[in-house]
Amino acid sequence: SQRIALIPAAGHGSRFGTATPKQYQLLHGQPLLAHTVNVLCGCAAIDRVVVVISPGDEWFDSYSWPQAKLEVLRAGGASRAQSVANGLAALAADEDDWVLVHDAARCCLSPDALQRLLDEVGDDAIGGILAQPVADTVKQGKVGRIAATVPRDNLWLAQTPQMFRAGLLAEALQDAANPAITDEASAIELLGHAPRLVVGEAQNFKVTWPGDLALAAAILAARHA
Ligand code: CTP
Ligand code: MG
Repeated sequence: SQRIALIPAAGHGSRFGTATPKQYQLLHGQPLLAHTVNVLCGCAAIDRVVVVISPGDEWFDSYSWPQAKLEVLRAGGASRAQSVANGLAALAADEDDWVLVHDAARCCLSPDALQRLLDEVGDDAIGGILAQPVADTVKQGKVGRIAATVPRDNLWLAQTPQMFRAGLLAEALQDAANPAITDEASAIELLGHAPRLVVGEAQNFKVTWPGDLALAAAILAARHA
């Protein structure tokens, strides 16, 4: 069976707030998406890397991309889950191929964290995700005041990649419009399964707000220094 990376990159970046979506903002002279693509294409254990962009994307074709492994689908949908479901449907994957869904906006994923996920999930019956144990004290709010302090042991922040067999993932995403599906794992959980948690890394954050670009640039600069 193959290992296929599927990168949803069809968002508008409304919180980032620029006319050019955040996945095409330049980081060290390359679009953010290129850094994401390079980590996945550079992993010898991954056979195919498939990027899902919006049908109306005006930016992808202005850049040069790796020739080996990389495929692009103009199949983005109204939500992240829909973009992933559309991409998966167009992939022609075998049922037991592994699909690693990874946010375009997580451009600082390290090869080490990616390899850790592959190593720890490769023989799992269900699949799993990178996630980060919550480090801060967690408060539940109520109209601007603290209602409760939530015990943080066993609380994790979900990251990507999220790695599942293509057949199971397609079944889980049949109802991609369900608002409870905010990542691939939540869809798998709705089928009654418990995906594995693999320790990620703080650096594997999702570029979301304008100030996040400078942080991503610093992380990448430190890694390539
Ligand atoms: N994404 C997608 N299709 C959508 C929405 C999001 O492929 N309809 C992708 C984004 O391009 C991003 C990833 O899913 O790589 C994670 O989504 P998010 O960080 O929320 O990006 P946006 O939806 O673009 O940003 P925002 O929510 O601020 O609008
Ligand atoms: Mg979004």
